[in-house]
Amino acid sequence: MRGNADHETTGLYPVPADWAARAHVDEGAYNIMYETSVTAPEAFWLHHGQCIDWFKPFTKVKNTSFAPDNVSIRWFEDGTTNVSYNCIDRHLATRGDQVAIIWESDDPGHDIKITYRQLHTHVTKWANVLKSQGVARGDRVTIYLPMIPEAAYAMLACTRIGAVHSVVFGGFSSDALADRIAGAASSVVVTVDEGLRGGRKVPLKANVDVAANKLAGVVTSVIVVKRTGGDVAMTVGRDRYYDELAASVPDDCPPEEMGAEDPLFILYTSGSTGKPKGVLHTTGGYLVYAAMTHQYVFDYHDGDIYWCTADVGWVTGHSYIVYGPLANGATTLMFEGIPTYPTISRFWDVVDKHKVNTFYTAPTAIRSLMGAGEEPVKRTKRKSLRLLGSVGEPINPEAWEWYHRVVGDRRCPIVDTWWQTETGGILITPLPGATKLKPGSATRPFFGVRPEIVDAEGKVLEGATEGNLVIAESWPGQMRTVYGDHKRFEETYFATYPNKYFTGDGCRRDADGYYWITGRVDDVINVSGHRMGTAEVESALVAHPSVSEAAVVGYPHDIKGQGIYAYVTLMTGEKSSDALSKELVAHVRKEIGPIASPDLIQFAPGLPKTRSGKIMRRILRKIAEDEYGGLGDTSTLADPAVIDDLIANRQNKR
Ligand code: WTA
Repeated sequence: MRGNADHETTGLYPVPADWAARAHVDEGAYNIMYETSVTAPEAFWLHHGQCIDWFKPFTKVKNTSFAPDNVSIRWFEDGTTNVSYNCIDRHLATRGDQVAIIWESDDPGHDIKITYRQLHTHVTKWANVLKSQGVARGDRVTIYLPMIPEAAYAMLACTRIGAVHSVVFGGFSSDALADRIAGAASSVVVTVDEGLRGGRKVPLKANVDVAANKLAGVVTSVIVVKRTGGDVAMTVGRDRYYDELAASVPDDCPPEEMGAEDPLFILYTSGSTGKPKGVLHTTGGYLVYAAMTHQYVFDYHDGDIYWCTADVGWVTGHSYIVYGPLANGATTLMFEGIPTYPTISRFWDVVDKHKVNTFYTAPTAIRSLMGAGEEPVKRTKRKSLRLLGSVGEPINPEAWEWYHRVVGDRRCPIVDTWWQTETGGILITPLPGATKLKPGSATRPFFGVRPEIVDAEGKVLEGATEGNLVIAESWPGQMRTVYGDHKRFEETYFATYPNKYFTGDGCRRDADGYYWITGRVDDVINVSGHRMGTAEVESALVAHPSVSEAAVVGYPHDIKGQGIYAYVTLMTGEKSSDALSKELVAHVRKEIGPIASPDLIQFAPGLPKTRSGKIMRRILRKIAEDEYGGLGDTSTLADPAVIDDLIANRQNKR
């Protein structure tokens, strides 16, 4: 039974009694705290800003403006602190011998447990190695690593010395990596000889070589971690193994005193236009928000074993593998492998092996595991599990119910957490001890978050309604700017609906005040929970010599949520073929990475355009969705006949 009407009017899943008893906040407490957080934000954040240790306490809580031509966001601005101090040093006296990171390698026979004291030793070494390569406060360091503990060490080491990290997902190609290194003007790159996923080697160092050779003069130092011991080329004077560098640096490295608004990291993310943007987060507000959301959303208590399956290359890995959990002194699990290796029970085997209490993953993973049926789950115990989480895209009620019933044995609440790279942490979410659940709804706002639903003109809609999701007030974890381009920041997020932060998502609110994210309303698509700008894929396609024009849209995909559908017009004289189609897919993989591979390519002699030459994506989206009834007004098309051809040749694959 999954009629939406039922879910919308009643809380079908009440808070379990054991949860109400143990949680930090129950329903009554949530209501009171939420109310205070939005009516008296200064007092609320003055109190909660203390969840991290400050070297110099802040006296100013909040100083923010969403005015479209003067956006300025500052939190706790006169305080000073250090992120690695908060994630490591402050725990040493009380939990130095507690495990900070459980690393589960690709090989199920191998794991490592790193205590807080060991983490301290690693991170101070790393910090000194970075310094030995000339890295100083404010410098950018690009980290291109797989899911190995060194990724966390390198990130924390940057924060220790006040350097700004830019982590690039290991699945991005050398071209995409080069763009990001250049964008951050980062002279030091940290990488690995080879990654290991599902028993297969991934040539990360070789990718760095291609990128660094393109950027001669920019990249002066490449620090290489040994993972597989594979034989990789080392450029003399530029490339050094981490182990060699570490052998000749001191052990100790005191944390730098950083201002709350000093840059912490850059993370590139896709938007609706142009190249990916460098989202900039700063020190104090980000850490307060990551730590506090980790504590309340996952109802973290001392001793909990917590596992987020994201990659550190994405914001979820930053906030909820590394910074939030470690700031709270938690034990965080880092998994190098994939859910299907060596068997499709791997996630649940890891849960049993390490007695995981909280498990946080993406709907696409749930849907693909669902496809293999219940047996691979049911053959494991999962007795330690208490809470499940979902992030990255809307979770369809079928997947939610399966996750709840099969994985969680109906015992574990699911927190469906809505947020973005830009938001730094979770904004709309249930709290497990406080919120009745409706499958498919991210439910209610977190403390301090003021969501609003607006129509196309920006009019705020009240009550049960549907429209575009904006946030009316700043929160501490909000991004501060687009690195190097504040104007782009203002135009992207604050110009559409003046004085509000525009999320790019559509949203419905039901009669109970629950929020239901309906997906992106801009030209961003969400493929397996990975954000991809259609413009990026288009520019990769038109860079191929056979292609004259390309238009890319998303279409519904059973596992990935959305698939990538590319309409391609060839240069005069070029002939379409399966071989060319394959070549174009390979070309996009090279330009961006495997996550951007088009699922379907349709060769089209013409694309639907207005008389002024603008491609009518609305129509292309409908055709890709296989919905011809809703094509709408096509009378403004320069050449209406192209539509018939597009429909006749629509590609079909799910
Ligand atoms: C989508 C990932 C529905 C949304 C943390 C957002 C979601 C984009 C959810 C951000 C959710 C994320 N329900 N949609 N629980 N979580 N999204 O920057 O469209 O990689 O705008 O951040 O993912 O993706 P990003």
